Amino acid sequence: MRLPSSLRGVLRPSAPALRSAAPSRRHPSPDPVRGATVLVTGAARGMGALFARRAAGEGAAAIALWDLDQDGTGQLAEELCAQGVRAVPVRVDMASPESIRTAAEETRTTVGPPSILVNNAGIVRGARFWEHDPARDITATLAVNTLGPMWLVREFLPEMMARRERPHRILNVASAAGVFANPRMSVYAASKWAVIGWAESLRVELESDGYDHLAVTTFCPSFVATGMFEGARGPLGTPILTPAQAVDRAWEGMLHRTPLVKTPWTVKGGEAIKGLLPARVWDTVGGRWLRLYATMDEFTGHAAGAATGTSSASGARR
Ligand SMILES: NC(=O)c1ccc[n+]([C@@H]2O[C@H](COP(=O)([O-])OP(=O)(O)OC[C@H]3O[C@@H](n4cnc5c(N)ncnc54)[C@H](O)[C@@H]3O)[C@@H](O)[C@H]2O)c1
Repeated sequence: MRLPSSLRGVLRPSAPALRSAAPSRRHPSPDPVRGATVLVTGAARGMGALFARRAAGEGAAAIALWDLDQDGTGQLAEELCAQGVRAVPVRVDMASPESIRTAAEETRTTVGPPSILVNNAGIVRGARFWEHDPARDITATLAVNTLGPMWLVREFLPEMMARRERPHRILNVASAAGVFANPRMSVYAASKWAVIGWAESLRVELESDGYDHLAVTTFCPSFVATGMFEGARGPLGTPILTPAQAVDRAWEGMLHRTPLVKTPWTVKGGEAIKGLLPARVWDTVGGRWLRLYATMDEFTGHAAGAATGTSSASGARR
């Protein structure tokens, strides 16, 4: 039977369409990390430091360690340089487009343009929405968590798109908070929700325009024991991940070009159930029975002193 032309592409997808729709476990070839220049934001501690160590362990040639916290990135750079990797600490405020532009120029000069970007820096204010200060909390959270990754990718994307001779990757660290509404993290949830929408749209644009060498992965973990969410409890059946577990899952997803990595499995399962239920029924099932809406009741965030600047600390409950 001859199909109308409008349906032919849908029912018999073209090879590139099939490739992008195929399960994303195909092994990357060639290895995107060996010999790469990697840029990690929020690299001074937590998951960011582990992403940098993982890149070094897998043969990256150079790593730009971006953070406000120069002590943390300085120490990590020494550690990685001792392993033979060219690691360079770069001071940046991810809330400032000017600071990102300056740090990008410094990075181009010292280690060259990156082929792997890890958008990891983030902050959280654990408070009711009406307790957020407009500038210190709302603007800062959206700037660091949402606009920072966009400014950074916008800065390096033209070079990444042009250099087809080697694989390139963008790994965005979002959150399960970008999937579920949660009391005491409204602005944080909004910032991560926006990251997912932006990053997924970017991924589809690159795939549909044939930039096969450049893959985008977005990581949505539940709580991870880095101290950022100190005091928070996981919903029912959702263990708090170790930083090593979280970084391993994100990194594997990045290597395998997985568009979205949601972990642990309850993030995906909960999202599917939520999608089927009316909002108020989900409030009972997810919010009350699975205890999602109580996860932040005892939140304290990073201990005082762990902050690295006006826009970096996790705000304590007020
Ligand atoms: N910890 C969790 O439970 C959890 C869960 C889901 C998602 N995440 C996300 O994972 C990412 C890493 O979180 P983490 O738990 O490792 O946090 P962390 O607080 O241990 O590390 C965050 C890093 O970002 C840096 N940073 C903060 N503001 C900055 C700024 N303006 N400019 C430059 N650097 C800045 C900090 O100095 C720090 O080194 C964040 O995007 C966070 O939102 C964390």
